[in-house]
Parts: sequence; structure tokens; C-alpha cells
Amino acid sequence: MSSKAIYPGSFDPMTYGHMDIIRRSAEIFDELTVSVLNNVNKTALFSVEERVNILKEATKDMKNVKVESFQGLLIDYARSKDIHVVIRGLRAITDFEYELQIAQTNRKLSGETLDTMFLTTSLEYAYLSSSSVKEIASFGGNIEACVPDFVAKQIYDKYKVTR
Ligand code: PNS
Repeated sequence: MSSKAIYPGSFDPMTYGHMDIIRRSAEIFDELTVSVLNNVNKTALFSVEERVNILKEATKDMKNVKVESFQGLLIDYARSKDIHVVIRGLRAITDFEYELQIAQTNRKLSGETLDTMFLTTSLEYAYLSSSSVKEIASFGGNIEACVPDFVAKQIYDKYKVTR
């Protein structure tokens, strides 16, 4: 049986921190599905389609990585794909409480069929977050260490920033 995992998130937009987790999980599992949450309650800078396209472009050379989007509960989506492992990245202790709660909720709600595995973010990306990248870019700051160039361009375009 081949091993499969889902890496869910908002990815608004994807950063080098996310790419690091994707690359490392794709080495551990036979098949990795990166899935963008289509959250109607949250305003995002990028549409779901734009976020999916960014992830597809960034992972185009990773043959065992698929990019999709989902709506609703993660446990239902995982069940529909017969996937039993969720991947999440942990940057710092501040992530831990939130992630622990989600992981335990998902395990309970799924009847203990969905487990979460955490990868610790590589140190060089531990400070990164999509929110801080957006804030820096919105004021015309340099985000080249945070996201690939093609993503940086799209973020600056959203804020009508020329650099
Ligand atoms: O990148 P994010 O915003 O930290 O990702 C959060 C995500 C998408 C993993 C989480 O919000 C999620 O899985 N939402 C789907 C709804 C759900 O299943 N909620 C139950 C768990 S509390």
C-alpha cells in the first residue's frame, strides 16, 4: 500500500516555509496532496484559484505532489480521498497550542482515523508567516528571502507596489 498525506492550509500566499514542509513531506510519503482551504469566512489576498496556481507552479518538479482545494471539514475531505495523515509545520511554541487543539479535534471527530504529523520548520524559515510577508510587501519592503520571485511579483501587484 502506498503512503499518502495531506498538507492543508490557507497558503495566502505560499512562502518558502511552506515549500520547505512540502519538499520534506514529499520525501517521506509516496503521495502528498497540498490542499488550499476555501474558507468563505476569511478574507484572503489571493483567490483560491490563484493560491492553487502558485502552489502548482512551485511544485511542478515534484512528481508525487498534487495541489487541490477543499471546503468544509478536513476530516470529510481526507475521508473522501482515503487519506489518514495530515501534515502541519510547527515554527515555534506559539504554533503548538493551536495546532495541538486542531490535531486532537480532528482525531476525535474522525473516530481516531485521522492523525496529524508535525514537521518542525527549518530554522532559516522559522520566522516566516504569510501575514508578515503581506505586511512587508504592502509597505514596499523586501520579501525576496520569503517567497519565490514569481510570487513576490504577484504580491506587489496586489498592493500596487512598484519596486
Ligand atoms: O494555514 P492555516 O490557516 O493555519 O490552516 C488551517 C487549516 C486549513 C488546517 C484548518 O483551518 C482546517 O483544517 N480547516 C478546515 C475546517 C475544519 O476541518 N475544522 C476542524 C478543525 S478545528
